[in-house]
Amino acid sequence: MPPLKLEMVDTDMKGLILSGGKGTRLYPLTYTRAKQLIPVANEPVLFRVIRSIRDAGIGEIGIVTGETGAEVQDAVGDGSRWGVKITYIPQDAPKGLAHAVQISRAFLGDDRFVMFLGDNVIQGGISTLIEQFAASDWNAQIVLKEVENPQHFGVAELNADGSIKQLIEKPANPPSNLALVGIYMFDSNIFTAVNAIQPSKRGELEITDAIQWLAVRQYRVHPYVHHGWWIDTGKPTDMLTANEYVLREVPVEILGEVSPDSTIGAGVIVQPGAKIINSIIRGPSIIGENTIVENAYIGANTSIYHDCTIRNCELERCIVLEHSNIENVPQRIADSMIGRRARIGSASRKPVALKMNLGDYGQVWLP
Ligand code: DAU
Repeated sequence: MPPLKLEMVDTDMKGLILSGGKGTRLYPLTYTRAKQLIPVANEPVLFRVIRSIRDAGIGEIGIVTGETGAEVQDAVGDGSRWGVKITYIPQDAPKGLAHAVQISRAFLGDDRFVMFLGDNVIQGGISTLIEQFAASDWNAQIVLKEVENPQHFGVAELNADGSIKQLIEKPANPPSNLALVGIYMFDSNIFTAVNAIQPSKRGELEITDAIQWLAVRQYRVHPYVHHGWWIDTGKPTDMLTANEYVLREVPVEILGEVSPDSTIGAGVIVQPGAKIINSIIRGPSIIGENTIVENAYIGANTSIYHDCTIRNCELERCIVLEHSNIENVPQRIADSMIGRRARIGSASRKPVALKMNLGDYGQVWLP
């Protein structure tokens, strides 16, 4: 995609993306990689976040980074690929979302800004939200979504008139099923709030507490209830679900080579340099650049990233990262996440046994 020019940017707001933290629930993939760089539909979640902010007309974006900062910086660069200017803001430890706001003061100045958590994936863009907030006199806008497991999120309780009654971080007994989505809009009053609150029980400065601080002091905090899908990609199952949803949105293109003895279903994307030989691929799925798929069945909701080899095997609803080889596997592999440079194959010598060279925190399920 050619980089967009900065001239299209038409709002004075800034963007702040949080890409620090540890991602322990995504081990082992996040042992060696920032969780925000794991791809869904072959695009790192963080890149999708940058595009959403850019598409809402924001050209200046700060990215808060932690111990994976060098890797994030390497992958994202200066932002020119998206026509935006990126500033990196290192955070010495994951001390909370409100701490990330505190340390971004110099970058944000007194400008209104949108804060987007770098591991959140949401349906549609954020342009309408940004337009509404930019044109309003609200001090903050939060995005809420009805969920089945509110205890895992920040939760909002609303009054009958739709205004905020209370906001509470990961409550054991949630007062409602409205979770706080990781997209927030603020004016500079948020700095007073993040400086006034104390760390929570988990030892973090919570943005939920800072917004609650604003709400109880009669600052205008506008709650917007989102009706599309939203996923916080904290766990492997969330990544697979996000992959499923995002695959349905990506425009279908066949840019690689497909042999005449292959069958490609609706919704399949074949990226440049990929080769599909004597295989069946069901959509929605994506096959990455320079990946070879030979004598294979690729079921729906599968993303195979760049430079992989998939031969004599069957995969369904999987995410496979770059440079991995999966060959001669007799059983179908399903609902799986496979990291970079992984190898799955069959042993040619006895004893006939499962042989593994499995990384720390790796997980294998046998049928
Ligand atoms: O995803 C929505 C939820 O995000 C909200 O419902 C919660 O209210 C909010 O606290 C947050 O909860 P999580 O526990 O999911 O946040 P997590 O620690 O996963 O961090 C979210 C993102 O922010 C992630 O990309 C890492 C980054 N981060 C996190 C911390 C704690 C930082 O950059 N710095 C930090 O200090």
